[in-house]
Amino acid sequence: SDAVPFQGAVQAGIVTPAQDRLHFVAFDVLTKDRAQLVQLLKDWTDAANRMTAGKDAGSIGATQGILEAPPDDTGEAIGLPASGLTLTIGFGPTLFRDATGKDRFGLAARKPAALADLPHFPGDLIDPAISGGDICVQACANDPQVAVHAIRNLARIGMGVVSVRWSQLGFGRTSSTSTSQATPRNLFGFKDGTANLKAEETDLLKQNLWVQPGDGPDWMTGGAYVVTRKIRMMIETWDRTSLGEQEDIIGRTKGEGAALGQAKEFDEIDLVSKNGEGDPVIPVDAHVRLAHPDTNKGAHLLRRGYNFVDGSDGLGRLNAGLFFIAYQRDPRTHFVPIQTNLARLDAMNEYVRHVSSGLFACPPGVTGPDDFWGRALF
Ligand code: HEM
Repeated sequence: SDAVPFQGAVQAGIVTPAQDRLHFVAFDVLTKDRAQLVQLLKDWTDAANRMTAGKDAGSIGATQGILEAPPDDTGEAIGLPASGLTLTIGFGPTLFRDATGKDRFGLAARKPAALADLPHFPGDLIDPAISGGDICVQACANDPQVAVHAIRNLARIGMGVVSVRWSQLGFGRTSSTSTSQATPRNLFGFKDGTANLKAEETDLLKQNLWVQPGDGPDWMTGGAYVVTRKIRMMIETWDRTSLGEQEDIIGRTKGEGAALGQAKEFDEIDLVSKNGEGDPVIPVDAHVRLAHPDTNKGAHLLRRGYNFVDGSDGLGRLNAGLFFIAYQRDPRTHFVPIQTNLARLDAMNEYVRHVSSGLFACPPGVTGPDDFWGRALF
């Protein structure tokens, strides 16, 4: 079947070959009662177990309950298969200590140092209303209706305990996370994910993705930190840029996706060689040079982003871009230095604006019938 197992040592939806569709949600916790929050995490785990197997969110189902009560599933996924649905949870810094400094659930002592708020980067235009959140859930599936159904039912189950802070739909994965996948393209028309960290690169995953024993509090061992950035892309300006300039900005060719100076997509990038005029073949301000591990003390990110088009902006332009998602062992050594580099120097900056930001600690996987999302934290 096309169901991805929900349970496992690590959460599904991270190295799982990236599905085509996304619904990402961030919740604020409304309740002040720790027991009520824990009960919700148990109820969510139960629903996630069911929905990822292609079943209704509740055990009675969308149409089999009594006529006097609302059904325990909303019904729009009736007849649809699991569609590769994965549900991945993360806990934001504010769950441990809210904006006023309050430790609502007695978790402050368990907050990992790696979950430190991201700094402001040059050029950031972050809108707080679509940023942050106490808890996130990433739903990925090959059918948008299945992804939306899952998030909708989690929100329904959480009514009164949590409220939706923001959510984002995405289409067209912009990364491959397995060597078994072809590299897709982003809205600049370039292959995206060529040099991504892949599920098969076990040693690199250990060094760069999964939190290792001793990295911080034990409850995160086997987990990963996720950074989300909604990045508006000025595609109308991009579309008036010459092909040569586009390729110089990325540092790869548009057709094949080869690093400049190379022939094939997966040929190794050469950051050293110079051309006839004595300039580096990969320009000094090219995106792939600045984001490359060699420029960032060996840091690799696992990127798992999606394209978005949220209508138009009222000024005759599409409100389009990349909902960037990256998983890593520690944002302080991975996303932060890479983005610092990019924000200062990337030739792409003329065409992109970061408008939202999120950071969440994604615990290890759920491993048995009594286990639930975040059990080791509580
Ligand atoms: C590589 C596009 C934002 C990190 C690439 C590539 C493209 C691309 C086309 C080359 C193909 C590949 O190896 O995947 C974009 C676009 C962005 C964006 C359109 C914004 C709208 C970011 C951000 C980061 C990032 C915010 C991290 C802070 C990387 C990394 C690589 C990469 C690590 C691989 C570099 C290498 O090792 O060669 N990106 N990117 N990108 N990007 Fe981005």
